[in-house]
Amino acid sequence: MLGVSRTYVWKLIKQLREDGFTIEAVRNRGYRLVKGTKMISKDEIICLNEAGYIGKEIIVLDNVDSTNNYAKRLAEGNNLNGLLIVTDDQRAGKGRLGRTWISRKGDSIAMSLILKPKIPPECVSMLTLIIAVAVAESIGELTGEGERIKIKWPNDILIDGKKVVGILTELSCESMMINHVVIGVGINTECRDFPEEIATKAGSIYGQLGISVDPNLLIATIMSVFEGYYETFLEKKNLLFMLERYNGILVNVGKYVKIMGYDAGQTQTDREKDSDEKGYTAVCNGIDEMGRLLVTGDDGSMKTVISGEVSVRGIDGYV
Ligand code: BTN
Repeated sequence: MLGVSRTYVWKLIKQLREDGFTIEAVRNRGYRLVKGTKMISKDEIICLNEAGYIGKEIIVLDNVDSTNNYAKRLAEGNNLNGLLIVTDDQRAGKGRLGRTWISRKGDSIAMSLILKPKIPPECVSMLTLIIAVAVAESIGELTGEGERIKIKWPNDILIDGKKVVGILTELSCESMMINHVVIGVGINTECRDFPEEIATKAGSIYGQLGISVDPNLLIATIMSVFEGYYETFLEKKNLLFMLERYNGILVNVGKYVKIMGYDAGQTQTDREKDSDEKGYTAVCNGIDEMGRLLVTGDDGSMKTVISGEVSVRGIDGYV
């Protein structure tokens, strides 16, 4: 009827599917668009981003192994500050504690921000907490569902208990001088099904709230919100200025948590096997100005937990 061949239509559908659109074949009718994904656009992000320099220079990649690895390669020997690498098709994403991060084309945002902060290396882990607040608040602002968005220390963002965002910060430094920091953020925007092993704890913004956010607006909002906090942090070099904000959205406050320490070099399976033996439970009180988690043991003793080779769980499961 349109004067185009079936083969031509089929090729177009194939291309759209590769670009992240979900299209169903409907018997005797043709095709139906199930899920429309807005493409990531460098120009749109720049235009929407109200920050001064954070995320004002952007590289959008069709696909990449890991945006963190790409950013680290680029930052090596180059004087970069505020450059953002973005893709919606990351094929070998890295998570914390040597885990992998799975994202599917069109279903998620993977981005890495290169920074050159003038702070002591021991303050770098605080950047993870700052971006976590910026991401949580940005999702809240764009969806109007801020009350349902929480942080699980140090840097998982949850909606109604399901993890929708993961953050991985990597540092390059020489003799106590920072060369660069790469902050990687993975956001599940649209995903509706997850591999079995993470299906009980992973979720997406759409899956939890039934809202499709514009990825370009979300990225731009995160950049603007983060820049405000980052500037204050560079001046203060501690988190006192956002303590209430962070603790206000921390999911575990006042609850029992299990602190699990791991041996570096263990496989994930070994870590899971060992976790029961090595963990201890305590009540979570919130973070201090250095971003450490303060917990109280059953004997009343206060402990300070440093992120790194540690994972925090709820006593009955993930939260
Ligand atoms: C975690 O929760 O374990 C952290 C996940 C971090 C994933 C992001 S996606 C963008 C960036 N590139 C990576 O390879 N990892 C981070």
